[in-house]
Amino acid sequence: MAEVKLKNITKKYGDVTAVQNMSLDIAHNEFLVLVGPSGCGKSTTLRMIAGLEEISGGEIFIGDQVVNEKDPKDRNISMVFQNYALYPHMTVEENLGFSLKIAKEDKKEIETRVKEAVKILGLEELRKRKPSQLSGGQRQRVAMGRAIVRRPDAFLFDEPLSNLDAKLRTQMRTEIKKLHQKLKTTVIYVTHDQVEAMTLADRIVIMKDGVIEQIGTPLELFEKPATKFVATFIGSPSMNMIEAKITNISGELYMETNDGISVLVPKHKINSLTEGQRISFGFRAEDIVPIKFGQKPKSSWSLQSKVNLAEPLGTETLIFTNLGNTEVVSRMFTPELVNSNDDLEFALNLDRTYLFDGDTGLAI
Ligand SMILES: Nc1ncnc2c1ncn2[C@@H]1O[C@H](COP(=O)(O)OP(=O)(O)OP(=O)(O)O)[C@@H](O)[C@H]1O
Ligand SMILES: [Mg+2]
Repeated sequence: MAEVKLKNITKKYGDVTAVQNMSLDIAHNEFLVLVGPSGCGKSTTLRMIAGLEEISGGEIFIGDQVVNEKDPKDRNISMVFQNYALYPHMTVEENLGFSLKIAKEDKKEIETRVKEAVKILGLEELRKRKPSQLSGGQRQRVAMGRAIVRRPDAFLFDEPLSNLDAKLRTQMRTEIKKLHQKLKTTVIYVTHDQVEAMTLADRIVIMKDGVIEQIGTPLELFEKPATKFVATFIGSPSMNMIEAKITNISGELYMETNDGISVLVPKHKINSLTEGQRISFGFRAEDIVPIKFGQKPKSSWSLQSKVNLAEPLGTETLIFTNLGNTEVVSRMFTPELVNSNDDLEFALNLDRTYLFDGDTGLAI
């Protein structure tokens, strides 16, 4: 068990900067998730921590030691990959014990640790099977078992569930979370799936173009996104986002959309805005609802609009409609039936809108 610290680490591949000046402290026993779009530098970061990739600048600490120059095998961390690469000719048990055998660990000790991993992961019935006789989820569990037997200071996961179907992915997600509670080890977990990040993480690091956009707990990122990018990345469906300009109409500030619709600036934002400023304003689907089926919020703006499409999902219905030329999505939790082409009045809760600067994308 250990802390992992990244101090100004950078990775360059020729002209490409994959990771730039990244600093991060990962606490002992923390479950930290790196999330971000494809190519943002998640795997590169993980591979540098594992020692599989040389670092162009900065320092990595595991515990209180700088490990920049250490071989991967001397860092005492285990990595689980997307393609679990089990040895096809070995049984589950043999796969589990193989790395210890290579490390010339004592035979009794290997037996004890393999038994322990088998028990933790519920692989008792499958001990004697070969990988080809296992399902995807079972193979992934064996891959995790191989990491567990080494009793590492930290586990590194690189998109371990992306080869599994949706249902199994959800199941394994729960298993990984339970496993972490049992083993109490530092975990650094890479995914591009924000739901996976939200459900697993103690803290999430959102990366974009090789730099950190924001670090925080899942709720912090959801409630207080620091940038427009984070706001639209976290949460499902994605936050509605409208481009607008701040205008003054008879002494009051409005957000005027590109197609000429004016929405009153939420009271608590008035002092942070200037006339003529370009902004984006965002709101989540649950904060714009048909008035007919919900309660009108205290401070709201109303939109009369036709339903483009309604998706009844059981506990909720997603309604797609237009605000000017931009399609927005509304989420209601009541079971009323809504149909395409219905004409509805929606109430946008102004207290729940998010504003971002049009140039920098930073939260206002
Ligand atoms: N060996 C390499 N040589 C040159 N460029 C590389 C190399 N490996 C990665 N890159 C580049 O570095 C950047 C970061 O890649 P990385 O694999 O870390 O992204 P990622 O966030 O893991 O993406 P994904 O979600 O697609 O796995 C990308 O622009 C990628 O093209
Ligand atoms: Mg990757």
